[in-house]
Amino acid sequence: MAEYTLTVTTGNMLHAGTFDNVFVTLLGEEGRSNRTQLTNGVSLVNEKVGIFSVTSAFTLGFLLLLQVEKDPFHEFDDKAWFCSTISVRTPEDDDVFFPCYKWLSRGDLVLLRGGRATKAFEDFYPRLEDQRKKELVQQKLTYKWDEYAEGLAYVLSIKDVNSLPPEAHFSFLKARELEYRIQFATDELAETGILYTTARWENFEDMKNVSWFAKSTLAETVSQLWKNDDFFAYQFLNGVNSYVIRRCSKLPSKFPVTDEMVKPFMAKWTNLAEEMENGNIFIVDYKIMEDLPPTVTDGMQVPLSAPICLLYMTPEKKLLPLAIQLGQQPSKDNPIFLPSDSEVDWLLAKLHVRHVDTLYSMLVTHLQTTHLVAEVFAMVTLRNLPTIHPLYKLLTPHHQSTLFINTVARAVLYGPGRFLDNSSISAEGQLPLLRRALAQLTYVSLCPPDDIVARGLESIPNFYYRDDALRLWNVINSFVEAVVAYYYPLDIEVSADSELQQWVNEIFNYGFLGNPASGFPSSIQNVEELIKFVTMLIFTTSARHSSVNRAQLDFLSWIPNGPMLLHLAPPTVKGTATMDDLLMTLPNKSFASITLALNWFLSEKYEDFVPLGQYPQRFSEPAVLRMIEDFQAELSTISRAIEKRNEELQLPYLYLNPKEIENSATI
Ligand code: FE2
Repeated sequence: MAEYTLTVTTGNMLHAGTFDNVFVTLLGEEGRSNRTQLTNGVSLVNEKVGIFSVTSAFTLGFLLLLQVEKDPFHEFDDKAWFCSTISVRTPEDDDVFFPCYKWLSRGDLVLLRGGRATKAFEDFYPRLEDQRKKELVQQKLTYKWDEYAEGLAYVLSIKDVNSLPPEAHFSFLKARELEYRIQFATDELAETGILYTTARWENFEDMKNVSWFAKSTLAETVSQLWKNDDFFAYQFLNGVNSYVIRRCSKLPSKFPVTDEMVKPFMAKWTNLAEEMENGNIFIVDYKIMEDLPPTVTDGMQVPLSAPICLLYMTPEKKLLPLAIQLGQQPSKDNPIFLPSDSEVDWLLAKLHVRHVDTLYSMLVTHLQTTHLVAEVFAMVTLRNLPTIHPLYKLLTPHHQSTLFINTVARAVLYGPGRFLDNSSISAEGQLPLLRRALAQLTYVSLCPPDDIVARGLESIPNFYYRDDALRLWNVINSFVEAVVAYYYPLDIEVSADSELQQWVNEIFNYGFLGNPASGFPSSIQNVEELIKFVTMLIFTTSARHSSVNRAQLDFLSWIPNGPMLLHLAPPTVKGTATMDDLLMTLPNKSFASITLALNWFLSEKYEDFVPLGQYPQRFSEPAVLRMIEDFQAELSTISRAIEKRNEELQLPYLYLNPKEIENSATI
C-alpha cells in the first residue's frame, strides 16, 4: 500500500467553499490511485487548508496528472467550489505542486498538471502530450475570436458576461462593490435631480457640488488650477494622457505659427527656430480626430475639433502653451489662438484641447492601447499556452478579469446605444477612431524606453511619468529576464517552442491584423526578443493601464478640465466669445454628472485589488519563487523612492507607484 498526502487549499474569496463531495485520483506513470472522496465538505471552506490521504495498491512512479471531480449527484443545491492549489507528498517524500485556481461545479472534472513548468518538447510521456493538446482544444472552444468590426482588433466572442467561464468573472466582493457604487451614485445624483436635467451650468461654483463621492485631494487642486497655462501644459506630461506630446524640431506647414506670434511668451534673447534647435519646443497633434462624423446633441450637429498645440519649455523649466490651432487645416476660420488673446478666447481654445485629450485618453490610450490590447494578450495566452507552460504561469495573473471588464465595457460603455454614444464621439465616430488608433499603434509605442526616444522626451524636465515608467520597465525587464532565461537557456528553445510561436503569431494576426508597419513580431526567434516582448506585455497590462485609469478621477472630475461632450462648435473667430458661451459649451448637467460617476467607478481601488508583482502561486521551482520575491523587493524600493519624490512635489505623481498599479486591467 502506498500513501499520498494531499494538502488542499480553497480560495480566499467569498463563497469559495463547498459542502459537496469532491473526489480525487492520482495518475502516475505506473497506474492510478484509488478514487478518493476528499471530504464530506467540512474542510473545503474559504481559505481553509485540508489534509487528506490518498492510497494506491502500489507506488505510482512519476505523477502525471491529478484528477479532481465534483460529485455529480448530491441531495442539496449545487455550490461551486474554488480550488486554489493541491500539493501532494509522495511515499518517496517528494512534493508535487498542482495549481488549480478553478471553480468546480456539480459534475465537473479537471485534470491538473503539476511540478516543473514545461514547454511542449519537454513532455516525454504520451499521456502528458495528449493532455496538453486536449487542453488547448478545449480552451479554443471556450475562448473563440470575434471580429468586432473590420479594421479593429479581434475580441472574445462571448457577449453576455454571464456566459463567461466562472474564473473570468469578478469576485463576488468586487461585483458587489461595483454594484453598490453604481447604485449609490445613481441614488445620489437622482436625489439632487441633476441626473435628469439637461440644463447647462450657470456658474463654475455649482460644479463643485455635483456630488461628494467623486472627490480627491488632487481633483480639488485641479479645480483651482485648471485655468493656469502651466497646469494645462503639465497635464501633457503627468496627467491622464502622457502619450501624445513629442518634441518639435520643425513646425508642420499646417500649423503656421510665426515668431511674431509667440515672441512675447518666450525669453527675450531667443526665437522659435533657435528653441526648436535647442529641443525646447514640443507639440501635441490630435490629427487622429480629424473629420470624424459629427455627433448630434439637442438636434444640432457639433463638430469635433482636431487641435494642434505648441508648447515651450522656459529657461525656468516650466512648460507653457504658446499657440493652439483647433483644426488641422490653416484658414481664416481656423485662427491660431495665443496666450495674449482675451481670457475667454484662450480659455475656450484650451477647453477644446482638454476636451479632445479627454476623449483621446478614454478611447485611444485607455480603451485601444490598454484594454483591447490586453484582451488580445489574454485570449492568446488562454488559447495557445497550456497551464503547465512557463509563460502561462507567468502571464495569467496579468490577464485577471480583463475579459470580463472588456465584455462589460462593450455592453455598457462604447458602441451604439452605449454611454459614450452620447459623448462628442458617437458610436459612428468611435469605429473610425479606433481603426486609426490601431493602424497607428506600434510596438515601439508600447515599450517606454523606445517610445520616450521616439518622442524626443529623454531630457524634458519634470516628466514624472517617464521617470517612473522607465524605472518600472527596468525592474519588470530584470524579472522577466531571470524567469525567461531560466526556462529558455538557449535561443533554439525559443524558436522550437511551437506553442510560443503560435502565441506570438496570434497576437500579430488577431491583435494587429498582420500589419508589418506595427513593428509587432509574427514570430520570436531568440531569448532577447522574448524577454522584451514579455516585458512589454506585463508593462502594458499593469503600469500603462494604471497611468491612464487611476488618474481619471483626479484629472477629469473637474468638468471643464475633462469634458467628454461639448455643446458648441470650436470658435472660428477671436474676440466674440463670452464666459457665458464657455459655460454653454460645457456638457449639460446630466451628462457631466454621469461622467463624474464613471470616473469614480474606474479610478477607485476595489476590495480585491492585486498590486503589481503579487502572484498566486503557480510555480513550484524554488529558483523562480525567489525571482518573484526579488521582483517584489525591487518594486517596494521603487515605491519608496516615488513616495519620497512626491513629498517634495506640489502635484505628486501617483499612478506608477507599484502599490497603486494593479497586476492586470480589471476595471
Ligand atoms: Fe481600465
